[in-house]
Amino acid sequence: MPRSTRAQFPDAFRWGVSTSALQIEGASDIEGRRPSVWDTFAAEPGRIRNGDTPAVACDHYHHLDEDLDLVKALGVGAYRFSVSWPRILPRGTGAVNEAGLAFYDRLVDGLLERGVEPWLTLYHWDLPQPLEDAGGWPRRETALAFSDFADVVSRRLGDRVKRWITHNEPWCSTIKGYYEGEFAPGKRDLAAAMQATHHVLLSHGLALPVLRSNVVGGQCGIALSLHPIHTATDSEADRLAATRHDGLRNRWFLDPLHGRGYPEDVLRELGPAAPTIAEGDLATIAGKTDFLGINYYFREIIADDPEGGPMRSRVVETGASDVTGFGWEVYPEGLTELLLRVTRDYHPGPIAITENGATYPDEMAADGKIHDERRAIYIHRHIDALRDAMNGGVDLAGYFVWSLLDNFEWAEGYSKRFGLVHVDFATQERTMKDSGRWFADFLRP
Ligand code: FCB
Repeated sequence: MPRSTRAQFPDAFRWGVSTSALQIEGASDIEGRRPSVWDTFAAEPGRIRNGDTPAVACDHYHHLDEDLDLVKALGVGAYRFSVSWPRILPRGTGAVNEAGLAFYDRLVDGLLERGVEPWLTLYHWDLPQPLEDAGGWPRRETALAFSDFADVVSRRLGDRVKRWITHNEPWCSTIKGYYEGEFAPGKRDLAAAMQATHHVLLSHGLALPVLRSNVVGGQCGIALSLHPIHTATDSEADRLAATRHDGLRNRWFLDPLHGRGYPEDVLRELGPAAPTIAEGDLATIAGKTDFLGINYYFREIIADDPEGGPMRSRVVETGASDVTGFGWEVYPEGLTELLLRVTRDYHPGPIAITENGATYPDEMAADGKIHDERRAIYIHRHIDALRDAMNGGVDLAGYFVWSLLDNFEWAEGYSKRFGLVHVDFATQERTMKDSGRWFADFLRP
């Protein structure tokens, strides 16, 4: 059984919950907001499970105070949210939508009034549709547009928000969006996807000095989805495949951010699909950050597969019986392993776990409660893993549960619930789950 306690973590350690704009806000076409790539994608038949769309989601836009009260009720010290680019700059560039900024003013003020520190993510995948129409992330100008967006947001909120995350999971927004086609904008073009990865990283680097100049005492970072990579067998072929796979999953992002440029072995594998890199880009991408965000969900076990995509690799079923509702193996020791590895290989400074959590097919019981003990155990075991990493010398800044609320889980629509708080999507009624109560108990000093 998990045993860690809050007292085993330093006072400065930030406990939080995490959300993203598109997944909870709804209010998709009011007060000046215009479509993002995800609104467009969701309108295409067959893209999202059950034809769900993010148009209403948790209607957080109209339930702001209630939701901030829930954050406070959990007793967390920090809340990670993202701002909607198409709500603030409906065309992606140019005219600013005052109503959009005013919403985030209220959000930030509401957090501060409740004694909760805002952690703001600039980009959690909701690219304004006009920017996609002009070429999206494979186009270099999108990186420049992002830096202007960072300027608008940080000028307005930088007096009150001190934690800034440029991007959430660049791997997902680029590889899943432009190569695998499962995420918006649903393209399948490896070269475009790789160019997109470069421009997302470039945009991160371009935004850093903007944030530094607009936010006094700001702390800036990026949130990467990282995975421990294991080999299916001891064969040389599988070991080499695992190294290649790790190259695209992990090192492709970690290396350039830490001043090493893109990994040579991955560039070789990509051949003509490797991105075009302008002079100075790598130095821009390697700009100094103050912390590294890591989102951790699962490990991957890899076998050699000549037909298996750009890295000629295949993910093998773990055979584990303890899996979440996504089929993701529950593997907390992977978090310790990952943190030790990143610390050893990159010396990134403080690391915050910006997302970790689980979906289960929650049901409301006859007593009106959601008895999701498995989610509480999942979280507690991962906190144990953090403590082990800390004991192993990892510098940890915080831990954020994904997520505050059940929400729009991308291509899975509303079918996958991740919240500490249950949302009835028909009535918008919120109910604290047992896991939320457990987390609040865990955090109580
Ligand atoms: C991560 C995303 C987040 C959520 C969780 C389950 O990849 O960053 O928005 O969907 O997965």
